[in-house]
Amino acid sequence: MQAIRAHLIHSPERGRIERIDDALVSVSDTGEITDIAAGGSAPDTLDLRDQGVLLPGFVDLHIHAPQFPQLGTALDVPLEDWLFRYTFPLEARFADLAYARDVHDRLVRRLLANGTTTAVYFATIHGPASLNLAETCLRLGQRALVGRVAMDLAEGCPDYYRDRDATAAIEDTASFIDAVRALPGNTLVEPVITPRFIPACSDEALQGLGDLAARTGVAVQTHCSESDWEHAHVLERTGKTDTMALDDFGLLTRRSVLAHAGHITDADMDLIRERGAGIAHCPLSNAYFGNAVFPLRRALEKALHVGLGTDISGGPSAFLLDNARAAVTASRMLEDGVDPGTAGNLRGVAGARTDFRDAFFLATKGGAEVLDLPVGAFEPGLQMDAVLVQLDDDFGPPEDLLQKIIMRATPAEIRQTWVAGRRVS
Ligand code: GUN
Ligand code: FE
Repeated sequence: MQAIRAHLIHSPERGRIERIDDALVSVSDTGEITDIAAGGSAPDTLDLRDQGVLLPGFVDLHIHAPQFPQLGTALDVPLEDWLFRYTFPLEARFADLAYARDVHDRLVRRLLANGTTTAVYFATIHGPASLNLAETCLRLGQRALVGRVAMDLAEGCPDYYRDRDATAAIEDTASFIDAVRALPGNTLVEPVITPRFIPACSDEALQGLGDLAARTGVAVQTHCSESDWEHAHVLERTGKTDTMALDDFGLLTRRSVLAHAGHITDADMDLIRERGAGIAHCPLSNAYFGNAVFPLRRALEKALHVGLGTDISGGPSAFLLDNARAAVTASRMLEDGVDPGTAGNLRGVAGARTDFRDAFFLATKGGAEVLDLPVGAFEPGLQMDAVLVQLDDDFGPPEDLLQKIIMRATPAEIRQTWVAGRRVS
């Protein structure tokens, strides 16, 4: 049992922001918040009141771990070219376990320092490197879902980087699930079934992975309706949208994370809501590969589960708040439109804007809801995953503090990070 005395801000549901000044948070030995009381001390109290404000830790729903070495580069070509020119060659290097170890260690440390307490990762097709990523999260104390990537379709993958066939894609995924579940002392890291996206997977692999999800109850992640090319490619091959096709393969579950989803239809949104699946909104990546702005406000008003993703390295930042503020910016550009050559009254989508309050919710509790994990806010029964933030230049009224943090805090202003009550950065 330990206790933390601090000022708290959280958003336990969309549209509600709560600030609790001078709170005493009691945390059990398993990292669970057992009580939140006003002020006062207990034995073993860590007093943070003069060191900033405590927020729930950030939940990053979409990260490609092996792409960390090219973060900030290689964004000069469309998605389908980027994969073959830069990304598949880089990911293929993770056959070398020593290289994988080095990248994973640097990445997980960086993300913890940036305040990411829960991370959802695509690894590579290599079992040993993928397992090393899970071990690295466990060793450094990050809550994570880790997926060994399945991709077996010859037309959609290079010869040097793909699963031998559908059976290999399914069986290697199944043994990866067993290996992560068998990690000693593991209460933080879980496996996630990870078909890369429909264009890289055979029908047989997709169906087998859907069956595996039903049999094991393991979460699912994939890319969905990401770009004009990707959306049209799936329509042409299957006669359906990504969302509908994924559902037919059994891949649209309560714990499915659909990355991007910028081109989903209204009917897709309804189906995603019906299944309880969620969306990883990656606004920075979408600016390079998405060809359009995801209608975030519409998805939130339809009560879909939505959180945020950095999409390292499709987006050039490893700091989730860069995506929180980009979500606000993108929604403003969707509302106003972008082409000055079009008349103002025809240019944008009325009522599309969101603000820092939604962005804060998405970065914390929204992401937690997508994953159905007990994190994302300060409440008894939830895990104590938190970041301590102190701005270098903090002037003005206290009610503006959260807005300033969401819109302009830097990674260096994330002073400390806790996962399950343990300080990890
Ligand atoms: N679609 C298939 N693979 C990828 C990937 O690595 N990044 C992004 N952004 N989209 C993808
Ligand atoms: Fe991605």
